[in-house]
Amino acid sequence: MSDDILLSAGNISVRFGGVLAVNDVSFDVRRGEVFTLIGPNGAGKTTVFNLISRIYNPTAGSIVFEGKPLTTQPPHRIAALGIARTFQNIELFEHASVLHNLLIGRHTHHRSGIFSEMFFTGKVRAAEIAAREKVEQVIDLLDLQHHRDTMVAGLPYGVRKVVELARALCTEPKLLLLDEPSSGLNVEETGDMAFWIQDIKHELGITVLMVEHDMTLVSKVSDRVLAMNRGEVLASGTPREVQAHPGVIEAYPGTAEDVSGLRREAAR
Ligand SMILES: Nc1ncnc2c1ncn2[C@@H]1O[C@H](COP(=O)(O)OP(=O)(O)OP(=O)(O)O)[C@@H](O)[C@H]1O
Ligand SMILES: [Mg+2]
Repeated sequence: MSDDILLSAGNISVRFGGVLAVNDVSFDVRRGEVFTLIGPNGAGKTTVFNLISRIYNPTAGSIVFEGKPLTTQPPHRIAALGIARTFQNIELFEHASVLHNLLIGRHTHHRSGIFSEMFFTGKVRAAEIAAREKVEQVIDLLDLQHHRDTMVAGLPYGVRKVVELARALCTEPKLLLLDEPSSGLNVEETGDMAFWIQDIKHELGITVLMVEHDMTLVSKVSDRVLAMNRGEVLASGTPREVQAHPGVIEAYPGTAEDVSGLRREAAR
C-alpha cells in the first residue's frame, strides 16, 4: 500500500439479520485530506464508522490502517492506534466540566503501569504535564477558554459539539472520524465548524473522515467525497463531481432544499 494512504477499506460488508447495511464498499483515505461520506438516511455511513471503530466486525472485507490490518485489533486499542471519533449524538460526561472531559479524553495516552501511577513517578508526572499542555492547546485552538470550567450539561448544544470535537483532538489522533459535525447547529455555528475542520487539517495536519448532510459544509471542507445509498457506493470523486452525479441527486430524498442545495453546488 502506498505511504500516502492512511486508511484503506477493501470490499467491506456487514449484515444485520436481513439487512445488508454495508455492501462491498471500498475506499482509501489519504494522509492530510478531508474525506467525506454522504448519502441519504440509512445509507450505511455510521455503520462504516462503527466498523472502523471496531464496534462491529465486518462480515467480509478488510480495513487497513497505516499498512496494518485493523480488524484484528480489539476496540479498546483504537484510540491508542491514533483513531478518534465524535458521535452522531454527542457523547460527553454531562456532569463534569469541559476541562475534565478533555482530560478524560486525553487519558488514553497514559501508558504507565499501576505501580508508577501509585507512586506518582517522574514518568507519570511528565505524562500529566503533557496532558495538561495538550488540553490547553486544544482549548485555545477551538476558542473554549470561556467555557473551560463550565459543566457540560449547562452548555448550549452548539458549544457541546465543539467540546466533543475538542475531546477527540486531545487524544492526538492521526485520523479523526466526525459523524455529522453540523447536525443540530445553526448556519453561523455550521460556518464555525467548517472553520475548525479546516484548522484541524491545516494547523494540526490531522486526516479527517467525515459523515455530513450539509452540502455547503461538504463542499467547503472536503477534498474528496464518497456517496453511498442502501449500503453501496454510488459515486466518488471531488465534491463537485459527486454532487453532479445523476444517481446521487436521484438517491437523495432529503428536503426539497437539500436537493436544490445539491444542484446549486453542482452548478457552480
Ligand atoms: N446494530 C444494528 N442492528 C441492526 N440494524 C442496524 C444496526 N446498525 C445499523 N443498522 C441498519 O443499517 C442501515 C444503515 O444504518 P446507518 O446508521 O449506518 O445509516 P446512516 O447512513 O448513518 O444514516 P443516517 O444519515 O440516518 O445517520 C440501516 O438500515 C440501519 O437500520
Ligand atoms: Mg448515521
